[in-house]
Amino acid sequence: MPELGVNIDHVATVRQARRTNEPDPVWAAVQAELGGADTITLHLREDRRHIQDRDLRVMRETVTVKMNLELACEESVLAVACDTRPDQVTLVPERREEVTTEGGLDIISQRDRVARAIERLRESAIDVSLFLDPDPGQIEAAFDLGVRAVELHTGKYCNAAGGAEREAELNVLRQAGRQIVDLGLGLHAGHGLTYRNVRPIAAIDRMHELNIGHSIVARAIMIGMQQAVSEMKQLIAS
Ligand code: PXP
Repeated sequence: MPELGVNIDHVATVRQARRTNEPDPVWAAVQAELGGADTITLHLREDRRHIQDRDLRVMRETVTVKMNLELACEESVLAVACDTRPDQVTLVPERREEVTTEGGLDIISQRDRVARAIERLRESAIDVSLFLDPDPGQIEAAFDLGVRAVELHTGKYCNAAGGAEREAELNVLRQAGRQIVDLGLGLHAGHGLTYRNVRPIAAIDRMHELNIGHSIVARAIMIGMQQAVSEMKQLIAS
């Protein structure tokens, strides 16, 4: 059964709406662990729109499961990561104007930049995963760069209008998953996953880690974080 990474960024989004000290993503991470999270995922954006350096620092000391930090290949945030030493960094593309991470990282056109970022993280003994579209050329390039894992961007599957379109996107993800596993890399997936669409993704052969944020935090507002995480864990195990 895949492991569940709970992305707690949007708890910080609510706090930053008032620039106050609640709700605290550190509390959310504790509740997520109590609900069964295998990993706590957070994205330190260059614009610091949600997670702050303080959150990362405190969570590094309090999170007892794996910590996965999403980062752009930018010197300022890479330096913070190398100081804080999360267990894993997932390199993602980042544009200031985007609402959320809109596509996978293009590691073919930015190969040197990505390779330098991977090298820096490796020197700090941090495992690296790359957030990629399910594109065979990108996956091959990830293998060449020597990373531990690839996280497949599931956005197109999640946004597919109907059954046939969704099935087609699911098949693209299944094929990409097979390629990743055959190359000996860890298979991760995320973006846009919800309680309604997660099961076929969780059922992809050798899926190792799912990173889910918005849907869990949205449900947590209604029923509490521990319960919301526990329900997602049950779904991906079923
Ligand atoms: N995985 C990655 C690499 C992401 O950038 C995000 C969004 O921050 C997620 C997973 C979680 O996406 P969502 O909030 O849509 O579940």
